[in-house]
Amino acid sequence: MNRTDAFVERAASAGTEPADRQAAARGSDAAIGVGLPHESAELHVSGEAAYTDDIAELHGTLHAALGLSRHAHARIVSMDLDAVRHAPGVLAVLTADDIPGENNCGPVLHDDPILAADEVLYLGQPVFAVIAESHELARRAAALAKSDDVVRYEPLEAILTPAEAKAAKQFVLPPLHLTRGDPAAKIAAAPHKIRGTFEVGGQEQFYLEGQVAYAVPKEMDGMLVYSSTQHPSEMQQVVAHMLGWPAHNVVCECRRMGGGFGGKESQSALFACVAALAARVLRRPVKLRADRDDDFMITGKRHDAIYEYEAGFDDSGRILGARVEIALRAGYSADLSGAVATRAVCHFDNAYYLSDVDIVALCCKTNTQSNTAFRGFGGPQGALVMEVMLDSIARQLNRDPLDVRVANYYGIGERDTTPYGQQVEDNILAPLTDDLLGWSDYRARRQAIAAFNAKSPVLKRGLAFTPVKFGISFNVPFLNQAGALVHVYKDGSVLVNHGGTEMGQGLNTKVAQVVANEFGLPLARVRVSATDTSKIANTSATAASTGSDLNGKAAEDAARTIRARLAELAARQLGGHADDVRFANGEVTVNGGAMPFEQLVGAAYLARVQLWSDGFYATPKVHWDAKTLTGHPFYYFAYGAAVSEVVIDTLTGEWKLLRVDVLHDAGQSINPAIDLGQVEGGFIQGMGWLTSEELWWNREGRLMTHAPSTYKIPAVSDTPAAFNVRLYQNQNAEPTVFRSKAVGEPPLLLPFSVFLAIRDAIAAAAPAAPTAPPLRAPATPEAILDALDALNSPGTFHADRASALSSAQPASQGTAEPAPR
Ligand code: MTE
Ligand code: HPA
Ligand code: MOS
Repeated sequence: MNRTDAFVERAASAGTEPADRQAAARGSDAAIGVGLPHESAELHVSGEAAYTDDIAELHGTLHAALGLSRHAHARIVSMDLDAVRHAPGVLAVLTADDIPGENNCGPVLHDDPILAADEVLYLGQPVFAVIAESHELARRAAALAKSDDVVRYEPLEAILTPAEAKAAKQFVLPPLHLTRGDPAAKIAAAPHKIRGTFEVGGQEQFYLEGQVAYAVPKEMDGMLVYSSTQHPSEMQQVVAHMLGWPAHNVVCECRRMGGGFGGKESQSALFACVAALAARVLRRPVKLRADRDDDFMITGKRHDAIYEYEAGFDDSGRILGARVEIALRAGYSADLSGAVATRAVCHFDNAYYLSDVDIVALCCKTNTQSNTAFRGFGGPQGALVMEVMLDSIARQLNRDPLDVRVANYYGIGERDTTPYGQQVEDNILAPLTDDLLGWSDYRARRQAIAAFNAKSPVLKRGLAFTPVKFGISFNVPFLNQAGALVHVYKDGSVLVNHGGTEMGQGLNTKVAQVVANEFGLPLARVRVSATDTSKIANTSATAASTGSDLNGKAAEDAARTIRARLAELAARQLGGHADDVRFANGEVTVNGGAMPFEQLVGAAYLARVQLWSDGFYATPKVHWDAKTLTGHPFYYFAYGAAVSEVVIDTLTGEWKLLRVDVLHDAGQSINPAIDLGQVEGGFIQGMGWLTSEELWWNREGRLMTHAPSTYKIPAVSDTPAAFNVRLYQNQNAEPTVFRSKAVGEPPLLLPFSVFLAIRDAIAAAAPAAPTAPPLRAPATPEAILDALDALNSPGTFHADRASALSSAQPASQGTAEPAPR
């Protein structure tokens, strides 16, 4: 089996239409709707894919490293950088005073200094930059920042947690408040009520390629910045502001990232700015590549949150009124926290109709890293607490949480307006749920698990179903625009450039598929070039899962312009009408005649037909009133659902994921192989957030979990042995490219089912407990034991627990053995 076949096989076996059949339906060379490998797959696995640090260094290249703050909050009393300057290999040490333009790299508010000037606001904040002959020498010199003599501080009071910030009313932005109906009255009058608190931790993006920038000075005050960034246009802009230059002096280029996950949406800026500053001052190329620990210490993460909630509900578990306060840890500056909090507000409903609801989101200002975008962008933090609430409601009523969820689903034609006023027009929750419940065998397994638990005193199993509804579009409407350039060369080969960035998600592959499909060419005839601000101007970040929606449409627009010109020429040469010209299988046909694509292109060149075009797209329908928090922020919704089964050890708090079944809606998939990869990856990444990844700051505000030794991301061995992922057969109700749906972020919410399956297993250990298990996220073994303790269920000693865990099997006759942990 060759490589392409392997992809096709995987896509086909996961429940999508067999790719070869799809291809047959669309012509043998079909480039769209088929599971083609990632455009760089071969380069990824051979190690040839060039990341920013792999770009051949120019003669004279220097290396930068950052000197970091030792305090969470302090006034800088004095700096004596002589020792740093005289360290081996050092050419210069730069501080805020060396910045010619604006000392800011904040994306929205200007509250993010590139280098701290008078005050440090978190432990790890860059205070100075060392420029040296090698990466190693720069790092050694920068480490002198740890000495008491280099920077003298006067420590100030630090606020470290969202709870402290909330108590002190210290926010980076005013609170957001959305209310509909009369939730207080509805809750008061409801036959049943719940009230509680919940907390979820943050999450480090842990892109495999860390933050890196390489700045090359050019003639006439020019600067070329290679940056590992989701947002080249913003890097261009902040570098220009920092240098006091117009934007056209600066070019930012990014061929690919080794992952971004939101962490390079805004926070690549500091690295791009420092590299460019040093390149400007020293007039030599300068590279800044953050070491993993520095990356952890400097950059922001997913916002952790604490919640207070309350709900009133009827006998079926249907919510009559609900209120929630979501206190997010923003960190020391605003960054993207306003938009993150807005998305949290707009995802509290998740899949459920809330007639009377009150949602408050707080962006708590703390002396910690400035939290930022991370896959889901506040959506997961909004929806998770709703799922926890529904789970608690079900336990109080002694009903299956699945039934309570379904009872609260959005309706069709009724009960279909979100708290923020957008009507849910494309609701597929019911059929998607039925489909998944069928093949995941949920009801039978629920019974089997109850029988198992009745006989098993130490190991307890849990099962949970959770749905996802995720809004697609930037929730800041003007960001929903994109541009592309398509060049057809004389030989018929095609080059595409668009404003999106490739971070492993397969955007370039999808955009190339769209263009190849327009010209009826096999994918190999289309090449995508590096993202470059001198090609497409004023781009948005590749974020909000909109990369292929936006850039795919822009590229389609450009390709269609060229195709129309070619069609006119073909009709002139072969007879017939331009509208009847077909582009397929590398040929152009009309009026019974045919010619190869490249022949038509050659003729078009001689006839002086323009063979390249720009393209543009702006998402229709989206609007938003930031004052009332209402509008139509999302073009459409993506849906999905998952069933997860776990087993926990009630003595040690260890647990294992036995089986996962996922049905996810990617619309009509442009590339089912890539989309399945996104669903699997998003699921495991979200599972890491909710179970093993724990950020921990000590009392001084020092992040102690700043490397893989202490911060545990999931490994391949944490994927469940039975991991059944299928794409739901569906077409986007809106005319997106190929009627596909965005797939980058929504799957991150699917592993809510893992967290709630763990909660289910804990509940099984204390069936008589009056309340639902008080399980916090991440559900580490400690958290699981704490929840068990709180339910007063110490369990019995079981000497053979390890072997008991490793022989556990999913409730049904699972297809595969569970992996040992
Ligand atoms: N997949 C990979 N392999 N690497 C990434 O960094 N980022 C995610 C998601 N999938 C990411 C990824 C995030 S946060 C987003 S917003 C989308 O991809 C962005 O790409 P898209 O809009 O083209 O889907
Ligand atoms: N997602 C990602 N980035 C953003 C968004 C969003 O919804 N809104 C503004 N920036
Ligand atoms: Mo993704 S968090 O929108 O970069």
